[in-house]
Formats: sequence, structure tokens, C-alpha cells
Amino acid sequence: MSIQPVYKELDPVMEGNHKESDEKNHASGALKKNPAQLRQITNSGRMVKMNELDPAHILIVDDDEAFGQMLKNVITKWSGFDCTYVQSAKEALKIMAERSFDVVITDIKMPETNGIELTRIIKKKYDADVIVITAFYEDFTYEAAIENGANDFLEKPVRHTELLLRMKRVLKERTMLNKRKQAEEERKVTLERLRKALGATVRALVVTSEIRDPYTAGHQRRVADLARSIGEKLSLSDDQIDGIRMASTIHDLGKISVPAEILSKPAKLDDIEFALIKRHSLSGYDILKDIDFPWPVARMVLEHHERLDGSGYPNGLTVDNILLESRVIAVADVVEAIASHRPYRAGLGIDVALDEIEKNKGILYDREVVDACLKLFRENGYELTS
Ligand SMILES: [Fe+2]
Repeated sequence: MSIQPVYKELDPVMEGNHKESDEKNHASGALKKNPAQLRQITNSGRMVKMNELDPAHILIVDDDEAFGQMLKNVITKWSGFDCTYVQSAKEALKIMAERSFDVVITDIKMPETNGIELTRIIKKKYDADVIVITAFYEDFTYEAAIENGANDFLEKPVRHTELLLRMKRVLKERTMLNKRKQAEEERKVTLERLRKALGATVRALVVTSEIRDPYTAGHQRRVADLARSIGEKLSLSDDQIDGIRMASTIHDLGKISVPAEILSKPAKLDDIEFALIKRHSLSGYDILKDIDFPWPVARMVLEHHERLDGSGYPNGLTVDNILLESRVIAVADVVEAIASHRPYRAGLGIDVALDEIEKNKGILYDREVVDACLKLFRENGYELTS
């Protein structure tokens, strides 16, 4: 198609620049400049700064070769960007499969695949922005172009300054979006590294406490696995489950403050010894309370021996004053402790452990947590890890 007014509009830009050799020399020169050196354009008193943008790759698609080439010349001359021209949507998709482009500037009315359809395919398959240009604005509204993914829309006749401004705006938005994506990725990597460091620190705490108390080595690990499984059974959020796993992994950390001979005493503890043991919840809380975990870890550790009826320790809390996460750890802790060997007795087995929580369901232990735990063992074949 031939759109005379467009040519007239663009002609002043092309003045003195008709020779192909001149154009090539100019383009290669512009591409060698760094962004700060990229030129400013003056037109009707307006200044268009094309700096601060990374060197961009532009693809022009138009079945009108003379117009397409002219757009290419304008963009190459006045932006210094790498610019490629093709005559059809088919050619555009072929070259886009081979190289990447930042912005595609396409005509709408073209034989075979039109510009709107090309825009839809590009937005689906490629990471490129699209500006559509047409003289047939009666048939294609701005909304239709945008709905199909176009980033901007221009009507012929096109003023070169407007085209360059729109292209600059699209590229700036693209650069900002990429920067945001990059920052988000970096934030995720940092967060993951911090989580790993936190996990490693907690594991170091566990190892340290278990060296002193080898008899209960593995207790915290088994409680953590069971508590996590109960949390999943209760459909708690991933974040809550992560917190439960972290806290249950170190829930007996406070035993580090209990004399080792009491922890490993192969006989029933007297009242004084038991009172010392009972201090471990508070000791664990004191060790952990100033660490800025993303979960209430210290509080879970403090509350893991609290019971719904207020008979637990250290604070004799009742039902609603005990965190759900703490109630989960409490059930997992009791089941593991009864089922496994203790310094003063052999393991009583899982059936005795499950009877204990079932008998005291809703009295000492949270009803829903107990039901979830019973289902795990009796219906889902859960076994305590070795
Ligand atoms: Fe404990």
C-alpha cells in the first residue's frame, strides 16, 4: 500500500540522507556510541533524549516496502538502535525464531496474517513489545490492538518524533519491568540463602544439644517429621508448616541447661529432678526469643508442654492461649516420647501412644490435631522415622 502523507511527514528527516552508503555509515557509527552519547533529536522545538536505554533491537513489519524501509532509516538514524525490516508477518515470525527483538513495529493491514494476529502470536511466543501502526484506524480500534497485546498504537500519517517517543516509552517500560524482575529474582535468591543459613544454624544447635544428650538424639527429628505431617493433614499453610518443622526440630533445645546426669538417668526422676527438667521449655525460649525467625519459633518451644486444660507447663495456659502450632508439636512430642525408648524405660509402642492422645482428646490435646495424627497412623500408614 502507498500512504503519501506519511512519506511527506517523514521526508524532512530523510533529507540529505538518501544514499544507501551514507545510511549504512551513519547506522554503524551510531551503534558504536555508548548510550550517553546517543543523539538528541530536535523537531518543532522538542527534544527527545534517547539515552539511558540499552541498545535495542527493533523489527519493522510492513507490506509497503518503501514505507517500511523509511521507518527503518528514521529509527536507525535517530535512535542508533539495531533495526531490521521485513515485509510480512510470516517473515517476521521466521526471523524472530532466529533472533530476539525488543520491540516489533508492525502495520496492521497486511496480506495473509495481519498485524493484530501477528501481535497476538508475538505476545504468546516471544518476549517482545509491539507497537502497531495503521492507516485503517476505522477498522481497528486502539482497544482491539491493546486487547491483543500491543503495547502502543499509532495512526498514519506518523510523525517521526511521535514514533520515536512512543518507542522510547515502550523501551523504558520494558527496561523498568526487566529491572523489577531482576530485583525480584535477586530477592528470592537472597531469601533462599538466608533460609539455608538459618536451617544450617538450627541444625548446628540440634547437633550441639544432642551431643550432650545422645539418648534423645533423633527425638526432635522424629517429632519434627510427625508434626510436619500433622500440619499437612490439617491443611495448614506452607508457611505455618515450615514454622512448625523449624520449631519442633529444636523444641527441646532448653535441655542444654539441664544436668546431663538427669537427662540420662536410667530411673524414674524425683520431684526435684523433674522440676529441673520442666525448666527446659523456658530455657529454650530464653535462648531463642531474640532470634528474628519468620515464625513464632520461641513461643512454640515455650508452649510445647502446655495442655488445653491448663495442667501443662511452664505457664499453665489453656486452649485459646496456646498457639495452634504449639498444639501440633505437643501431640507429636507426646506420641514420639511414649512410643520410643526413654532412659528410664523401654519404648511403649505406637498403640499405647495413640491411645493416650485419643483418651485425652479435647482434654489435654487439641481435638482436630489428635484426629489428624490418628488418621496418619491408622489410615495413611504413617510410621515414626528411625
Ligand atoms: Fe520437651
